[in-house]
Amino acid sequence: MTRHLLRDDDLTAAEQSTILDLALELKQDRWKLKPLAGPETVAVIFDKSSTRTRVSFAVGIADLGGSPLIISTANSQLGGKETPSDTARVMERQVAAIVWRTYAQAGLEEMARGTRVPVINALSDDFHPCQLLADLLTIREHKGELKGLTLSFFGDGCSNMGHSYALAGVTAGMHVRIASPEEYAPRADVVADADRRAEETGGSLTLYTDPLEAAAGADIIVTDTWVSMGKEEEKIARLRDLGGYKVTTETMQLADPEAIFIHCLPADRGYEVDSEVIDGPQSVVWDEAENRLHAQKALLVWLLQQD
Ligand code: CP
Ligand code: NVA
Repeated sequence: MTRHLLRDDDLTAAEQSTILDLALELKQDRWKLKPLAGPETVAVIFDKSSTRTRVSFAVGIADLGGSPLIISTANSQLGGKETPSDTARVMERQVAAIVWRTYAQAGLEEMARGTRVPVINALSDDFHPCQLLADLLTIREHKGELKGLTLSFFGDGCSNMGHSYALAGVTAGMHVRIASPEEYAPRADVVADADRRAEETGGSLTLYTDPLEAAAGADIIVTDTWVSMGKEEEKIARLRDLGGYKVTTETMQLADPEAIFIHCLPADRGYEVDSEVIDGPQSVVWDEAENRLHAQKALLVWLLQQD
């Protein structure tokens, strides 16, 4: 059966771990596997801006022997005249997989229902599962075993990154803390799904409003922009509401002395994180950005093996 990655809990704990193992192997030997040699094409569609996702998918598909077909929605029929399912039916006869960065999660679900090739969420308003595979790979490299580690996320918990940390983190058996004002807490259904997954893995999800409490003893400190793509009109309110959740040197001092700092990037220095932290010795954000390449290659290889 065709498998898709639309949200982080589409992967079981064992599957997530298998993909991370393969990502590490591919990082050590970048040209080891060429499952797309043929040549096969992978469509990578963008409704929103991107640097890391665009570059890492284009390079990764080429590394695997395939051809990336990068499409901007503005220049395609998708999003205008044509539905996701009709677009999927056209593409599946010509491409090996479809990668899509979009707004509504419902569009991705429709795309996946309409096609027999894997569909990968390259960021939606609700989840960013490709980023989480790269983040977990980075944490594994720097901290070893994921199970039992405490990851504290600060800022907009009701965002793609907040939701993905909740689901992917507990899938890995981590203790995920999300510190945000109450009105920016993760969506209740995502919390319920994370809680269910945590029961299977021994992980946990805890919501905080006090950022200092959330930072105490954490192994990984994480934040993300306060103004996600599509939320620009709320910028003034968001800067006001989230101002108390900035990651500073004080946050890092409260965390475990060996803690690392990660951020999916792009970052707004001076807003969600001070430059002393993101450009400081505990930050591993450049490893994290590189790991998008290795994690997504492993994901593609794994998804194409499931058919
Ligand atoms: N982190 C991330 O997805 O970056 P881009 O928006 O540049 O792709
Ligand atoms: N939450 C951010 C992530 C960017 C990679 C956004 O959606 O803009």
